[in-house]
Amino acid sequence: MNPRRILTIFGTRPEAIKLFPLLHALEGDSRFASVACVSAQHRGMLDQVLTIAGIVPAHDLDLMRPDQTLDALTAALLTGLGGVMDAERPDWVVVQGDTATAMAGALAAYYRKIPVAHVEAGLRSGNIHHPWPEEVNRKIIGTIAALHCAPTETSAAALRRENVDPATVHVTGNTVIDALHWIVARSEADRALVGGLAELEARFAGKRIIGLTSHRRENFGEGMRAIADAVRRIAARPDVAVIFPVHLNPNVRAVMQAELAGLDNVALIEPLDYPHFARLIAISTLMLTDSGGVQEEAPALGKPVLVMRETTERPEGVEAGTARLVGTDADRIVAETFRLLDDPAEYGAMARAHNPFGDGRAAARIVDLLAAP
Ligand code: UD1
Ligand code: UDP
Repeated sequence: MNPRRILTIFGTRPEAIKLFPLLHALEGDSRFASVACVSAQHRGMLDQVLTIAGIVPAHDLDLMRPDQTLDALTAALLTGLGGVMDAERPDWVVVQGDTATAMAGALAAYYRKIPVAHVEAGLRSGNIHHPWPEEVNRKIIGTIAALHCAPTETSAAALRRENVDPATVHVTGNTVIDALHWIVARSEADRALVGGLAELEARFAGKRIIGLTSHRRENFGEGMRAIADAVRRIAARPDVAVIFPVHLNPNVRAVMQAELAGLDNVALIEPLDYPHFARLIAISTLMLTDSGGVQEEAPALGKPVLVMRETTERPEGVEAGTARLVGTDADRIVAETFRLLDDPAEYGAMARAHNPFGDGRAAARIVDLLAAP
């Protein structure tokens, strides 16, 4: 039998992280002919992941433009990804999550009647403006997909509530746990992979480290300034240091550089590659973030996570007590952070390794679903 042709499409850092375990699994499986296509909606941050995971895409659309708009990006994605599909004529198109690349990839496949498999299906915040535009992107993909790989029973149930055919919905776990296991094992085998934080670790010795990331579009402007204000107030404590790998989006960098550069207890650094970011979580007392992926990784590594968003599509961490929604009000962010720093009982209750997102075998399950008759 001819191997099944799988075209896996992605464009940003988190998609690459969550898809490399699947690409590794497809690569070693004779049931498939696997082709990777990157839109390169991200460039440097995507390439960091491709390098560490050893992924060489067959197609690279190199679409990233500085400060790109959603409509220009989406238009370029649709035509570019459609062209790749016409050339490859795959049996399945695989997309992950809720980015513009994933949404446009699903739509271009639908226009060609190619079935779409959606990895990390069924996440819903219930609010189309938080996160924006991701909530609508994933609903569009959910309407199109023929195979929904839901990370948890909660996400599977969300799809069934939207009348998605239950026979197409499978709980696979989230491939982020596969990726995290792989990266932690690699870093343990080769400590040089995580040596790049040594200088900061020495500079902040004796302080409690807070790892911080922020990039959501709905937080641009006022939200970003409030987050910066909170960071300044938190880092005014002599016992605390904030390590903040700053996303390359200029809307994030401009504010954070202007508000936080030069503070003693704040390190604004370039985006870390995945081994170093996992190391940052490991050396942090807690994580402050508006990221999706970090909400999954921090609980898996036993670190409390304060989520600087109004809603989350990942309620599992909040329900388990390892994550808390704190919004983007500076007073609230500061108060919740100080509560965790100053109340050992509160901290202890949140700091337990809890991993509702998977067992590290999600990619193997997805591969079997793609192989099914
Ligand atoms: C995108 C996704 C978001 C995801 C995030 C992960 C959409 C609409 N948004 O948001 O869902 O959570 O990625 O990080 O798909 N840039 C660089 N180099 C890079 C990456 C970005 O310079 O490697 C800059 C560019 O100026 C680019 C801008 O960041 O125009 C925004 O990138 P874009 O992918 O449009 O949006 P993100 O905010 O990164
Ligand atoms: N990450 C990374 N380096 C960094 C910041 C984050 O490798 O400097 C990883 C992180 O471990 C997680 C993913 O990037 O797996 C999250 O990406 P991001 O926050 O950009 O997007 P989101 O998950 O919100 O879509």
